[in-house]
Amino acid sequence: MIDKFGREINYLRVSITDRCNLRCRYCMPDEGVDKLEHRNILSLEEMARLVGVAVKAGIKKVRLTGGEPLVRRNIVQLVKYIGNLSEIDDVALTTNGMLYAPMAEDLRQAGLKRLNFSLDTLKPDRLHYMTRGGDLSKVKTAIFKALELGMHPVKINTVVIRGFNDDELLDFARLADEYPLHVRFIEFMPIGDLHYWKRERMIKSSEIKNMIGASYQLESVTRVPGNGPAKYYNIKNGQGSLGFITPMSNHFCSECNRIRLTADGGLRACLHDHHEIDLKTPLRSGASDEELLALFLECVQSKPSRHQMNDGWGADNDRKMYQIGG
Ligand code: 5AD
Ligand code: SF4
Repeated sequence: MIDKFGREINYLRVSITDRCNLRCRYCMPDEGVDKLEHRNILSLEEMARLVGVAVKAGIKKVRLTGGEPLVRRNIVQLVKYIGNLSEIDDVALTTNGMLYAPMAEDLRQAGLKRLNFSLDTLKPDRLHYMTRGGDLSKVKTAIFKALELGMHPVKINTVVIRGFNDDELLDFARLADEYPLHVRFIEFMPIGDLHYWKRERMIKSSEIKNMIGASYQLESVTRVPGNGPAKYYNIKNGQGSLGFITPMSNHFCSECNRIRLTADGGLRACLHDHHEIDLKTPLRSGASDEELLALFLECVQSKPSRHQMNDGWGADNDRKMYQIGG
């Protein structure tokens, strides 16, 4: 599907749950998380049906996100269903890694070929602090399990936060040097739990790149399989790569190829635009595939040309990051 601004929209991100087994400070409050009511969350069968319709609107790639997608039982069946759709050539997952290792083989058998781990620090005490309970040894085991099973590519998403992990950039670079891991540094965005967000905590990708470039020789852009906006660099003689995602310093909206489905069936054309099309109501009141398809097409046509995030994540945005799926 081509949108009004000439972008081909072929990538659907599905937040399969708003629940998470962690509570990252920039994402969720410690307590009093606004949870969706259970009956409002789509069943995995309902999600499967919507993905089946989405492929008719030109979706070829699907990523399952959350909250934490692996807290949802039967995710393996959903992966299998999506992977078996003939139009789909890529099914991926974003996870915090805590629950992955014991499920890794089942997920691979179901057709999962690649995944992204969210990991902001390589220090156990810092991870425990930032995620309010995360266990670095579990996440590391998960990442190495993914490599051992031949997942490719295995990416690590690292939100860079001044005063928290900006002294670990070279440690992350070393990880990508020594292992076939693709570390992507993400600029900290004013979304999620805004109590933690401060403009001073945001570090621009150009600064991150300079800090790493002082110790590692970064080589011209490589092609790492994926659908996102990261700009990648090889480390000279290294195994993996480094990527930079610049939502703040250089918005990449003109290359955006995605739409999003929330756990309660809201279809969003842009992470940063609160406009949402309700698919749950028609889905549950007997809409045909054609009627649902029309709503996907309407969403693509309503996609804004760009976000205005530097002007702030408007108070009118009543969705949280863990509900939209990162
Ligand atoms: N800024 C940047 N990245 C964020 N993520 C969650 N909240 C923010 C934020 N405020 C990241 C997570 C994860 C991905 C899904 O989105 O760390 O890697
Ligand atoms: Fe969970 Fe991801 Fe939010 Fe952390 S950032 S609390 S892992 S959904």
